[in-house]
Amino acid sequence: MDVRIAEDAETLAREAAAIVAGLVAQRPDALILAATGETPIGLYRELARLRERGVLGTSRLRVAQLDEYLGLEEDDPRSLFGWMHRALLAPLEIDAGRIIRFTTGHPNAELVAGMYDRQVDAAGGIDLAILGLGLNGHLGFNEPPSRADAPTRTVSLDPGTLASNATYWPNAVVPERAVTAGMSVILSARRVLLLVSGSRKAKILDRLLRSAPDPELPASHLHDHPDTIVLADRDARPKGPPDA
Ligand code: F6R
Repeated sequence: MDVRIAEDAETLAREAAAIVAGLVAQRPDALILAATGETPIGLYRELARLRERGVLGTSRLRVAQLDEYLGLEEDDPRSLFGWMHRALLAPLEIDAGRIIRFTTGHPNAELVAGMYDRQVDAAGGIDLAILGLGLNGHLGFNEPPSRADAPTRTVSLDPGTLASNATYWPNAVVPERAVTAGMSVILSARRVLLLVSGSRKAKILDRLLRSAPDPELPASHLHDHPDTIVLADRDARPKGPPDA
């Protein structure tokens, strides 16, 4: 695990964007697994800026969804796909043919999970997984406990995750059921970029860095991944003295 500390959230976004741009320069049709949420917003803005300046070509870039709520209409703007469309897909002009998404309206969600895995395999696997860190150590919606071989599947969200996501659901209840790319998909990505920003993440980042791979802290499985970069800003950097 390669742990890097950025001065602040803006620097983190720029450094993360440089990593993504480096990959796309080498492999213009790279398949990126993209988290939603607060943490990657700065990175996605930076990628849009690089594209506008002609520094980043996205005409062949491919994007896979990381997770999605269940029980929503396909075009519900509160879906994670809706969020990803506004923050990443539209600004980078990634058209539908280059997106692997979860079909939320399908009556059989387990079938949807299987379809997703087959699409990822057929696309040649994930080149880069861009992830955020949940306050309980989740990756995607792989809530604790999640084993390293956990497949893409439907899950019930933890109360803490529901509370964190409530800001996106004004006057409505956050859906409790979701589908997530499995730990197995995340860990088979050729490279993982875990972004961690803000003081509220300091405690869980500290636990992650000290933990052996443990299903109770799903992100800790990244210790067994051959190419993971953890990019944290100073606010998220663990401050306590090491345990004796
Ligand atoms: C989002 C996702 C989640 C978030 C995590 C951190 O697609 O899968 O695992 O990455 O909960 O969320 P933020 O960045 O909002 O703190």
